[in-house]
Amino acid sequence: MDTHKRKLSILGSTGSIGRQALEVIEKLQDKFEIIALTGGDNAKLLNKQIEKFKPKYAYCSNPNELSGAKYASLDEICSDRENDIILVAVSGKIGLRPTLKAIENGIDIALANKETLVMAGDIVMAKAKEKGVKIIPVDSEHCAIHQCIKDISQVDKLIITASGGPFLRKTTEDMKRATVEEALAHPRWHMGKKITVDSATLMNKGLEIIEAHHLFNMPYDKIEVVIHPQSIIHSAIEYRDGSVIAQLGLPSMHIPIQYAITYPERYEGIKSKSFSFTEIARLDFEEPDYGKFPTVKLAYHAGKTGGSATVCLNAANEEAVFAFLNNEICLFDIYSVTERMMASHNVVQNPTIDEIFEIDKEVRTLTKENIKRVCSK
Ligand SMILES: NC(=O)c1ccc[n+]([C@@H]2O[C@H](COP(=O)([O-])OP(=O)(O)OC[C@H]3O[C@@H](n4cnc5c(N)ncnc54)[C@H](OP(=O)(O)O)[C@@H]3O)[C@@H](O)[C@H]2O)c1
Repeated sequence: MDTHKRKLSILGSTGSIGRQALEVIEKLQDKFEIIALTGGDNAKLLNKQIEKFKPKYAYCSNPNELSGAKYASLDEICSDRENDIILVAVSGKIGLRPTLKAIENGIDIALANKETLVMAGDIVMAKAKEKGVKIIPVDSEHCAIHQCIKDISQVDKLIITASGGPFLRKTTEDMKRATVEEALAHPRWHMGKKITVDSATLMNKGLEIIEAHHLFNMPYDKIEVVIHPQSIIHSAIEYRDGSVIAQLGLPSMHIPIQYAITYPERYEGIKSKSFSFTEIARLDFEEPDYGKFPTVKLAYHAGKTGGSATVCLNAANEEAVFAFLNNEICLFDIYSVTERMMASHNVVQNPTIDEIFEIDKEVRTLTKENIKRVCSK
């Protein structure tokens, strides 16, 4: 039996994934030692977590507000080779540099931050291969696929499921009139605001297609999306002989988080209840309505174009989501704004990390200007 405690840092411990990760760790206290915890603006919660989990280091936006642990930057935390694994659960582009730093230092990654692969999947996966670092997905769909795959060379297709979000049964007109509260009322998952809005427009599924392409080295035309409102099948794969393997479970992020940080071991941990097919009774599936959710096709287009196209998609979408959350544009405009930015973007093939950040910055500036122009009309 392995008595070694796994040394873990959590980037984004004050967020939705980070808090659930600490709930998992509370149940598995004898399995983990926390090296570092990080927050952004919520120093109050971070300090409570520090008191309870006693990390060696911590980071938050304002170091003066930190108490109980030594301050360290995200890069410093990811350079500490004492870490066995780092859970990257910050939101947005800030996940990319620390992830690369951890990979350079040979530290395994439990990856929740999908922007890392959307922005720089080619670079990140190549570096991980070179350094022999494991990237274990936390996103429930990719975690499901990770669990199903034995031999990727024999897999013909990835089938990614989507709950359909709060507007599945609503019209495009309803989406145009949707309030921020309606967009944030996800029927299945409680997540941070950015990913919840992405789930309402289905851009989240688009980003997941790009993430799956990089994680599993699968061509885009072999990645399919299916709407499955009950969120019981978290995704599936089809082998070349027609055999389909799916991963099922109750909709809870605790399970994929636990899987990723304990991989390849499995523990009872946070499990609260046994799975019952008869309690579930029915599972439904349908094709996405691409007229209502054009974001999915836009993401396929960005992915197939490659290079900086996915950087542009990610940056423009994120700025448009922030504008929607600020009541500056309507929900449907998130697509229109992102599509306009994509149409005017000059794609750079094989961008370096510095170029990726430059392009990201440029697209964000242009997107904000575009939103201002549209709003002032
Ligand atoms: N939530 C889910 O169920 C889920 C599922 C799959 C994938 N993901 C992915 O996981 C990531 C996190 O999602 P989430 O829902 O947990 O987001 P969230 O609740 O918004 O949490 C984001 C975390 O990042 C921190 N953060 C934000 N800006 C920062 C900055 N500039 N510097 C340092 N830290 C910063 C936040 O700190 P403060 O709160 O202290 O400011 C918080 O700890 C996203 O990439 C998302 O796409 C989430």
